[in-house]
Amino acid sequence: MKLPEKVKDIFVNEAVHQLATSSLDGIPNISNVGAKYLLDDESIVVVDNYMDKTLSNILANPRVAILVRTERESYQIKGSSTYLTEGPIYEEAKKWMGSVSKVFPAKGALLIKIEEIFHSSSGQDAGKKLV
Ligand SMILES: Cc1cc2nc3c(=O)[nH]c(=O)nc-3n(C[C@H](O)[C@H](O)[C@H](O)COP(=O)(O)O)c2cc1C
Repeated sequence: MKLPEKVKDIFVNEAVHQLATSSLDGIPNISNVGAKYLLDDESIVVVDNYMDKTLSNILANPRVAILVRTERESYQIKGSSTYLTEGPIYEEAKKWMGSVSKVFPAKGALLIKIEEIFHSSSGQDAGKKLV
């Protein structure tokens, strides 16, 4: 599913988003993601530098949600993730992370395929599906 332009702008221009995951038995978790980029219009890469409960959750349950927001405009991106520790997508993510700062370990890369997007702003569209 192609990311709409207005969601893409927020994803790219805001420094940090929130990534929600869930364990198989339904325990929710939320973490910050700043090491992120769009691989293409349908796929997000998040670098695993410090993931703990997030990693346990996605290994058991690949479904994730990402909340993006600028000012009072916000969207919820839902998708399915794959955890990578080798191969070209991981190598590229590791290289990119290294170019940002050597501090970050880039232990893995989370590849998220975008499946659905919902409005998450206040107002009449709140909660409705965008695409
Ligand atoms: C501003 C900010 C950005 C962050 N970005 C990332 C990130 O891109 N990747 C990452 O692995 N951890 C990142 N973290 C750390 C996570 O928020 C969190 O500490 C880590 O995932 C461990 O928590 P968990 O047990 O919920 O996974 C960031 C933290 C902050 C404060």
